[in-house]
Amino acid sequence: MKLFSSVHDVTDIKALVAEALQLKQNPYAHQHLGKNKTLGLVFLNPSLRTRMSTQKAATNLGMNVMVLNIDKEGWALELRDSVVMDGDTVEHIREAAAVMGQYVDIIGVRSFPGLKNRDEDYNEVIFNKFIEYCGVPLISLESATRHPLQSLADLVTIEELKTKPRPKVVLTWAPHIKPLPQAVPNSFAEWMCRADVDFTIAYPAGYELFADFTKGATITTNQEEALADADFIYVKNWSAYEPYGKVFPGNEDWMLTNQKLKNTNNGKVMHCLPVRRNLELSAEILDGPNSIVVHEAGNRVWAAQAVLKQMLEKLQ
Ligand code: CP
Repeated sequence: MKLFSSVHDVTDIKALVAEALQLKQNPYAHQHLGKNKTLGLVFLNPSLRTRMSTQKAATNLGMNVMVLNIDKEGWALELRDSVVMDGDTVEHIREAAAVMGQYVDIIGVRSFPGLKNRDEDYNEVIFNKFIEYCGVPLISLESATRHPLQSLADLVTIEELKTKPRPKVVLTWAPHIKPLPQAVPNSFAEWMCRADVDFTIAYPAGYELFADFTKGATITTNQEEALADADFIYVKNWSAYEPYGKVFPGNEDWMLTNQKLKNTNNGKVMHCLPVRRNLELSAEILDGPNSIVVHEAGNRVWAAQAVLKQMLEKLQ
């Protein structure tokens, strides 16, 4: 694997999930693969889980890791071509990405959407420039439209904790105070649509996701109906795709509570984190027996390690 930007870069999802679960059992078995290899983690936006879990995964494989919080520590990047750089930007992404590729063997990049210009975000302008110029294998640490390491960890978690061959998985919209990207729900949806699960997406009218990500899912605006007999409930806020980046007033009653869980099959509750307590997800659920959010975050290590391992095998 030379690029990990979406589920479409994976030839065998089942094998990748199995690999992640094997690595969880035996984390240090492949330390030779990363000897004298360096991973560069480049963040244009904040992170706790992605940064620490990917760094841990690389270390487990014997790699060295460099982290650059380029938004705070790097030169201001110019993304546009054919401009006179007489403003605030100091370095063009063409040189910056190419130079990073001189120092590391694999690069991970996090670049959130601006949520202002849908074409720019959905064309993955920043991430694609790293693909074009860095010259080494590339991993998405969450791009404008997808968060594949998160989605792989989510699938690993479902595979690990499911109690029936084909569990019912529900992605349910949750309230928030500000517009959030569609990357996590887009990505979760496209991974679930490729996995062996019965998948439903529930959201209030107006929060339809881009149809390319949801083909094969059952879609409803009735949360109660969606939650019936659910084995896994994935809670997440997102802003509208159309009109892009907008939020609509109301819908606070979409927050998941213990009362709503009664309708599920003792459903396990997931969230990518960070989560705003008692706004996006109730504290009673987060602190209760149905929450698996910390376990899920722990699995971020094994997802990242499985992807890095496949990339390192190609570099040998
Ligand atoms: N879920 C996730 O990606 O967390 P961070 O933003 O903290 O990396």
